[in-house]
Formats: sequence, structure tokens, C-alpha cells
Amino acid sequence: MVATTRADLLAACLLEEASWRDLNALRYLERVCFPKDVWPLWDLIGVLTLPNVVRIKAVADGQMVGFIAGDIRQADGMSYIATIGVLPEYRGRGIGAALLQACEKRLPTLTIRLNVRTTNNVAIQLYLTYGYQKAGLWRKYYQDGEDALIMEKKR
Ligand SMILES: CC(C)(COP(=O)(O)OP(=O)(O)OC[C@H]1O[C@@H](n2cnc3c(N)ncnc32)[C@H](O)[C@@H]1OP(=O)(O)O)[C@@H](O)C(=O)NCCC(=O)NCCS
Repeated sequence: MVATTRADLLAACLLEEASWRDLNALRYLERVCFPKDVWPLWDLIGVLTLPNVVRIKAVADGQMVGFIAGDIRQADGMSYIATIGVLPEYRGRGIGAALLQACEKRLPTLTIRLNVRTTNNVAIQLYLTYGYQKAGLWRKYYQDGEDALIMEKKR
């Protein structure tokens, strides 16, 4: 059967625990999703291997098409969404929202934080839709000088 509706397309995508075996796929996804903010290789290895990180991949058509990592910082009393990305050709079918909700479910803290480029309206809209509120601004946080909007969800 060929998936056509948004629900069909989402159902054709599986959410699975990611591991170090996904390093190459994650390198590709991060390069495509974050051309201005490419993580060093060591950070990618860390996000796939360190303890206290929730790492979930979305798999469709036999490949990783989305990824999210949530960093649990019990000492700070909060968790951080460290990264979330979906390959462009798989966007707009609910994969980003599904990844965010699956990750949140596994984060033990009541507060979740993240930062996002102030011009990234699509991501900001995603976070607003799922209960995050604007909580601050870090001036010139990104390498090219753009500000970071801090968003926070309390549950
Ligand atoms: C942000 C991102 C992960 C969203 O992934 P996605 O799979 O397209 O998102 P979904 O289809 O689940 O959409 C979830 C919500 O995001 C918002 N959204 C998604 N696409 C949007 C668009 N083109 N315009 C406005 N809002 C949009 C909506 O609120 C949407 O909810 P709705 O479908 O109920 O309207 C994806 O665009 C991406 O990978 N962007 C590049 C990387 C990035 O910027 N990551 C965030 C860094 S902080």
C-alpha cells in the first residue's frame, strides 16, 4: 500500500533508540539540518554514547530520517533538548512532533529547556505548539552572531 495521508506517512515511520551504529547517518542528518551549526565529530559520538542522554531516531524507507537527543541534568533540575532534526523531504508529516513527544516522555525532570535561533520560525512554532514558552535570550550565541531564544516547558 502506498502511504498518502499525513497519518499514513507518519505511521510508515518508526521511532527507535539510536546508538553509536547510527554515527554516519547522524553526521549526514546534522549536516543537512544544521549547515550553519555543524557539531564536531566528538559531540556526535557523545550524544550517541554518553549516559543520561535520551537518543531517539526516526526511521523510514530504511534510513534515519530524524533524530532527537535529550540531555538529562538532574543536578540542574532540568533536561535540555540538545538537538532535533528531520530530513527536508520528510518534514511536515508529524515526525518532529513525534520525536519531541517520545523524548519528553523519557525525560525525568519537570522542566525541559532548549535554545533555538531567533529566526527559526518553524522550530519555534513546533515548540510553542507543544507547550514551550519563551524564557530568555542569549545574545550572539551562535557562531555567525545570531541570538538564541531560550524556551522552557514546565510539566
Ligand atoms: C523543526 C523540525 C524538526 C520540524 O520537523 P517536522 O517533522 O517538519 O515537524 P512536524 O511535521 O512534526 O510539525 C510539528 C509542528 O511544527 C510546526 N511546523 C512544522 N512545519 C512548519 C512550517 N513549515 N511552518 C510553520 N510551522 C511548522 C507546526 O507547529 C507543526 O505542528 P502542526 O503540524 O500541528 O501544525 C524540522 O523543520 C527541522 O529539522 N528543521 C531543521 C533543524 C532545526 O531547525 N531544528 C531545530 C533546532 S532548535
